[in-house]
Amino acid sequence: MPKAKKKVKRKVTKQTSSSKKPAKKKVKRKVTKQTSSSKKPVEHIKEKIVQSKKPRTIFDLKKKLPKGKRISSKSRTTSGIYGLDSLIKGGFKQGSINLVEGGPGSGKTIFATQFLYEGLKNKEHVAYITFEVMKEKFFENMLQFGWDLEKYEKQGLFTFLSYSPEQIKRILLEGGGTLDTLVHQKNIKRIVIDSVTSFALLYANELAKKEAALTLFNVINSWECTALLTAQDEGNRDRKEIVSTALDFEVDGILLLYHMRKGNQRKRGIEILKMRGTETPDKIFGITISKTGITVRKKTMNL
Ligand SMILES: Nc1ncnc2c1ncn2[C@@H]1O[C@H](COP(=O)(O)OP(=O)(O)O)[C@@H](O)[C@H]1O
Ligand SMILES: [Mg+2]
Repeated sequence: MPKAKKKVKRKVTKQTSSSKKPAKKKVKRKVTKQTSSSKKPVEHIKEKIVQSKKPRTIFDLKKKLPKGKRISSKSRTTSGIYGLDSLIKGGFKQGSINLVEGGPGSGKTIFATQFLYEGLKNKEHVAYITFEVMKEKFFENMLQFGWDLEKYEKQGLFTFLSYSPEQIKRILLEGGGTLDTLVHQKNIKRIVIDSVTSFALLYANELAKKEAALTLFNVINSWECTALLTAQDEGNRDRKEIVSTALDFEVDGILLLYHMRKGNQRKRGIEILKMRGTETPDKIFGITISKTGITVRKKTMNL
């Protein structure tokens, strides 16, 4: 910098040696202006913009996806599970995404359907999404609890959606696609995905699974409904390699369903592992499944 200035100065001196001072000053100012404008703002800002737009990880990618609704801090969506709402300050937060995890036969499907049925009783539009179950079988299974889903389907309040692997992949690629249209058109208030474990199996490697899970999460998050996702584990919380590892820290609530063996008997229980913005008990409560559905008992589970 000083060298260049000197050079210019000398040149200027040469040029203007015969002329008067004002011209000298003019050239000097020109040089100063050029150096400052060519280096500073534009390049730096450009670089910054380019850097910030580049998604490096799936988490950056997530930030780029639509923000969607914010969960309400006040309104609660009643769960429909007898005895549960009093433990979670009145129900799930409206617009929240909750995960119900448990082993096979722990009651996830019953839990999720009971949650939807609660909405149906209040004339809300609800949807059940699955990747495996046949509708007739599902309707039949749920009818034993007195939940006549066929009736609500005819009324247009209940929507059953069974997706093939190709369909769900396309929906996610399209950022919601037909499912997004349906949720908006029908003004769906409660949605269940049963289960995200089978959904994760559609993807070959861990990264693809996580990316798909996060995309799914973002799609749901852009809807104005309270969501319940079920996830199957092997009944052992230490071995957490299912899709929920990707979703665990993203979801607003995590409920664990237990079906533990004690001697020659199995006991059912529920634990509220996480519920954002809600004071929850650090206890595992006993649950019963009867012909009216799931009831959370006041008694803690005796393991
Ligand atoms: N009418 C009923 N009364 C009591 N228990 C039932 C009834 N129907 C189903 N169950 C219990 O619920 C279990 C199935 O629950 P489900 O929600 O399908 O489990 P998951 O979806 O976690 O695999 C059955 O294995 C059975 O133990
Ligand atoms: Mg099930």
